[in-house]
Amino acid sequence: MYKILKKEVLNQAVILMDVEAPYVSARCEAGQFVIVRVDDEGERIPLTIADFDREKNSVTIIFQVVGYSTKLMAGLEAGDSFCDFVGPLGQPAPFELDKWNRVIGIAGGVGAAPLYPQLKKLSEEGVEVSVIIGGRSAEFVILAEKFEQFCKNVYIMTDDGSLGGKGFVTNKLQELIESGEKYDHAIAIGPLIMMKNVVAVTKKYDLHTAVSLNPIMIDGTGMCGGCRVTVGGETKFACVDGPDFDGFLVDFDECMHRQSFFKEEEHECMMRLS
Ligand code: NAD
Ligand code: FES
Repeated sequence: MYKILKKEVLNQAVILMDVEAPYVSARCEAGQFVIVRVDDEGERIPLTIADFDREKNSVTIIFQVVGYSTKLMAGLEAGDSFCDFVGPLGQPAPFELDKWNRVIGIAGGVGAAPLYPQLKKLSEEGVEVSVIIGGRSAEFVILAEKFEQFCKNVYIMTDDGSLGGKGFVTNKLQELIESGEKYDHAIAIGPLIMMKNVVAVTKKYDLHTAVSLNPIMIDGTGMCGGCRVTVGGETKFACVDGPDFDGFLVDFDECMHRQSFFKEEEHECMMRLS
């Protein structure tokens, strides 16, 4: 069993948990993920690692309550335990430290959670990092203070203008590039439509962009094919080949189509739980 050491409600839909998981914390790297199960009949939930502390044997997960299983997770408290906490899974984020001096991160909503360890690691390696964090409104902007600890600039955008600039993260990105800011690389994590639109901006400026994909996953080990995505015309499995991919090559429309497959079933389960 994997004990929840800390639970923090970040906003009405997003929860942070530190979980005691010595094996995962000893081996994980930025970009990798875990699969958790609440109990032995529970659904397998893939979550990108948001942080880890090797000394405390803990791994931080941040999740959005979007369906039946995440609602069950949200009902757990510090002191409760997960039945499974499997990982680290997937590939560490592919960094090119010899080529990157300035990196811009772009986070949409809860996508700030998986972006955080990547930018932190880059900063520790001497890369100058800045971040644009977007949220529907002020309360949906998460981790800004944590990014401030090592980012040169933290730009905040909200859809309604209640914090930072008004508009999408893509508006800020376009503005920064047009104002002459130069970056060697971009990392975008958030809703698929956001990552697609970030890439539409960065492609114009040939600013290479990594994205993190979280398609439907089942086994997380490359066996079931559930998480398949098309990258550069080739089939890839996000669980073993990713979750980070070259954003210029990802077929986002296919990802969005596949992501909507089980909407009806999910809605039915939610209705049963409420
Ligand atoms: P959201 O829908 O509230 O959007 C967050 C921000 O993304 C917005 O404020 C805006 O700045 C930007 N955005 C949204 N639509 C856009 C558009 N059409 N064009 C440009 N920018 C746009 O986000 P949410 O509800 O927090 O959802 C987060 C998403 O991130 C989920 O869909 C989840 O699947 C995904 N996610 C991905 C990973 C990963 O590892 N890839 C991890 C966690 C979450
Ligand atoms: Fe089964 Fe990736 S989750 S192949």
